[in-house]
Amino acid sequence: MISNRLIYAIPLFLCINAYAEIAPTSPGQILFSKLGCTNCHGQNGVHPTSKYAPVLKGKSSDYIIEKASAIFSGKHLSNRTHFMHEQFCVGDIKKDDSCYPTPTEDELQKIAQWLSSNLPDKNMTFQGLYVSAQDTYDKLQELGDKALFIDIRTRAEVAFLGMPTDVDANIPYMVVGDFSEWNERKQNFKFYPNSKFTLLFDKLVKSRGLNKDSLIFLICRSGKRSAKAAKLLSAIGYHNVYSVVHGFEGDKAKEGRRRGERIVNGWKNNGLPWSYKLNKEAMYMKI
Ligand code: HEC
Repeated sequence: MISNRLIYAIPLFLCINAYAEIAPTSPGQILFSKLGCTNCHGQNGVHPTSKYAPVLKGKSSDYIIEKASAIFSGKHLSNRTHFMHEQFCVGDIKKDDSCYPTPTEDELQKIAQWLSSNLPDKNMTFQGLYVSAQDTYDKLQELGDKALFIDIRTRAEVAFLGMPTDVDANIPYMVVGDFSEWNERKQNFKFYPNSKFTLLFDKLVKSRGLNKDSLIFLICRSGKRSAKAAKLLSAIGYHNVYSVVHGFEGDKAKEGRRRGERIVNGWKNNGLPWSYKLNKEAMYMKI
């Protein structure tokens, strides 16, 4: 017979699993947690646990190293610095067993590298939640319908270039009109925001029994639009929106015979499953 305790434990376990953070994979993220930075700056350096601690994720690597070095050497002082000084026993504070270990230069470099993500500004989000195509695929296999995978490219892109097979829905972030308007600066057709983006998104999330804490992955062509869409969604309260960093097609090659072609990284170049045949359910959401 299953004990009462176990019956309570099962739904609790499922619930924790559904909202599980993506496991730390980078050395910087592991150090950030191991050295106790998470206690004030939050799990991802995104949501600080205290109003005194700044958001770190998404700041440049040089900035993080410069600021942290100044704090750890005791050179930088403000009315908030003592929070770090006390934990790490910096300056006049006597060292004993309760002091957090001060990061070495090498450790700080790794932390800074992870926090900055080495992404171009346009690919960064407020929440700083980024995921590779491979990790997205792995996580989706593990979480099934407890996570959402949304392709935010235009209908034309998915129609002609194909789409990852695991996508739950295509909700375009931008739309093209009737192809009668030209964007001189971009040398392309003119695009407009999809005015129904957040509305459709909210409806889809609700229809799947998910909520604003659920794990959501956004994919676009190469990671810029997905970053913008993630910012928009964080503004309306979604906390766990990941941008798939190099998108479906990936970055353009910078050199070589195939310079300018998208052959470098991203979903397709990682050999992950996709198809030109679209899933009707994902194109016409039943919501
Ligand atoms: C006890 C809480 C606490 C812990 C633990 C902590 N910090 Fe901080 N951190 C703060 C506070 C508060 C500030 C703001 C200090 C100031 O403005 O003078 C700060 C500022 C910073 C800054 C400067 C950011 C900026 O925009 O000016 C960096 C970089 C930083 N911390 C890195 C780290 C790293 C790396 C760790 C772990 C090795 C860590 N912190 C651990 C509380 C903490």
